[in-house]
Amino acid sequence: MTTDEPGGRRLVFMTEQKLSPETLAVSAGRPAHEHDAPVNTPIMMTSTFRGAGTVDTINDKVYARFDNPSWNGLEEVIADLEGASLPGLLFASGMAAVAAVEDLVPVGSAILIPKHAYMASISIAKKLERRGITEVIRIDVDDTQGAIEAIEAAAAARGVTAQNIDYAAPQVLLWLESPTNPMLEVADLPALIEAAQRLGVVTAVDNTFATPLLQRPLQLGADIVVHSATKFIAGHSDVVLGLAVTNRPEIRAVMLEHRSLNGAIPGPFEAFLGLRGVRTLALRMKKSVQNAQVLAERLSQHPAVEEVRYPGLPTDRYHERAKAQMDGFGAILCVVLKADVAQTEEVMNRLHLWTPATSLGGVESLIERRRRHGSEPVSIPESLLRLSVGIENADDLYADLDQALTLLTD
Ligand SMILES: Cc1ncc(COP(=O)(O)O)c(C=O)c1O
Repeated sequence: MTTDEPGGRRLVFMTEQKLSPETLAVSAGRPAHEHDAPVNTPIMMTSTFRGAGTVDTINDKVYARFDNPSWNGLEEVIADLEGASLPGLLFASGMAAVAAVEDLVPVGSAILIPKHAYMASISIAKKLERRGITEVIRIDVDDTQGAIEAIEAAAAARGVTAQNIDYAAPQVLLWLESPTNPMLEVADLPALIEAAQRLGVVTAVDNTFATPLLQRPLQLGADIVVHSATKFIAGHSDVVLGLAVTNRPEIRAVMLEHRSLNGAIPGPFEAFLGLRGVRTLALRMKKSVQNAQVLAERLSQHPAVEEVRYPGLPTDRYHERAKAQMDGFGAILCVVLKADVAQTEEVMNRLHLWTPATSLGGVESLIERRRRHGSEPVSIPESLLRLSVGIENADDLYADLDQALTLLTD
């Protein structure tokens, strides 16, 4: 059974049974259950909607910069997967979603952001800082106590408490990303989110790497979750999209206004691809995570490899924490080679199956030397390769890596 509500058709059930994520990924966000209704959300190619008279800003669509029914299916699916009561918001890209969240902060505010978060998310915060709007405070999620002390200091300096918190214009925004890109550090989400709640600090979590199948930060008390839906959610490296989701109507309203005013909107066809992609998210994640575990184990025995960073390895620094707070260890792993820059690049040239490319989360395996980006911090080793593990056969993927790595061992 479904209900029709403004902004979405959320699944409503006659039983109390909680649906599993793999069911929600397939079943949520469908058109109304009516005779002759399409099974899939149609692509609606229109820039405007018929209407006259006074505009009802809640119920009228009016103009396709404000809303497009093509977006609503994916907005509902993400809300259901993340356990949110309000539909998510679909954006033109992950960065458009990130910008909508960081733009919440008013003059005099602080954004606390991890030192190894996705570099463009840090750049947006720094841009706000250059314009005199906010102060950027870098935290190290490897040091939970130190990070909590930084949150306490930022909240105290601005006089915010759990009693006077302004969700729509937070004085202190805690930005978290876990696992971090590309170092795969796992933040202690329960401890950091609990501290933020206690101190009147709004928390946003970039859940791109984990996906809601492995981790649901809103259920831990985070206020906002963002995704680069370009990655696992769409899953086929054929579209750029972003999502933001929250349980707080006041935050959603400001992010919606940001999207409408800035025109940070996805095209209807891109929204279709995102929704089509999310239908297979559970199957894709399962296979990619299995493959990543196999590769991490084998690569950690390889003589050309200095270090494997993957929370699924029992020897990994974040293994126990990831086990406690995630439902799987993810499909991204990093290897640091015993090699210089030229040798690392040559290893990649010798690969046949793996595609050297930035981005992640598609069905095909991608590999990238992250320091090729001048903006990556020097704390990332030059010979660190980030592997986005796809759904191919794990033996084939390993064999390709192994033959390329002979460059370093022969
Ligand atoms: C963790 C993370 N967040 C956000 C983004 C930005 O997403 P998009 O490229 O869709 O704008 C990326 C892109 O790589 C990412 O890896």
